[in-house]
Amino acid sequence: MASKDLIVTFDGPAGAGKSTVARLTAKALNFLYLDTGSMYRALALKAVTQGVDLRDEEQLLDLLRQSQIVLEQGVDRSMRVRLDGDDVTDLLRAPEVNASVSLVAEFAAIRSEMVKRQRAVAESGGVVMDGRDIGTVVLPYADVKFYLTASLKARAQRRFQELKNLGYSIDLDQLAADIQHRDALDFSRTHSPLRRAEDAILIDTTDAAIDEVLAQVLTECRNHVR
Ligand code: CDP
Repeated sequence: MASKDLIVTFDGPAGAGKSTVARLTAKALNFLYLDTGSMYRALALKAVTQGVDLRDEEQLLDLLRQSQIVLEQGVDRSMRVRLDGDDVTDLLRAPEVNASVSLVAEFAAIRSEMVKRQRAVAESGGVVMDGRDIGTVVLPYADVKFYLTASLKARAQRRFQELKNLGYSIDLDQLAADIQHRDALDFSRTHSPLRRAEDAILIDTTDAAIDEVLAQVLTECRNHVR
């Protein structure tokens, strides 16, 4: 198999470093990068903006079916998210979205529509995808799978810094509590809960620098090709 055909997946809880490492992996291998969390975030944003009842699976599904979510990427694999043509990237980390995204993501019908869209992107390989259920449900046949995790403290601190850079002023303890709450929803939901695929390589990023993690990931990917 040529390296351009590889399918690489990253799963794990919030703030474990998935998107950063996944993006840099895609850049290094010249692959496409798909951040599936941003698709759920775009739907949550639209639902909140339009006042759709977040407990109403049918209404949410209608909304999703009418929504065009396009992920555009730059050469550095940084991504802009277009929702029905509008660039909503800067709105996806807003507190209202953080508070509602895991509710929207609980529904089987929503997940199956998202999974269909995600699989279509991976069809020709040469893709890095990150999320919660990628190695287990979306692309169980992926070539190289990773599961990233870190202590709650480290994850909260990272997310605190990211949100600060985006201009949000937040309380670190509150942020840790919010992450813990979202993790609990993601781990315990009935449909496609967050869990490590049996064949996923576990990386604890608590004390690891991004470039160390990236080096390990790239070694695993290159070993796979040989
Ligand atoms: O960046 P962060 O880890 O905080 O979250 P994200 O990847 O943007 O995902 C936001 C939320 O979307 C998660 O907490 C999950 O509830 C949901 N999600 C999911 O259910 N399945 C995925 N494949 C990706 C995200």
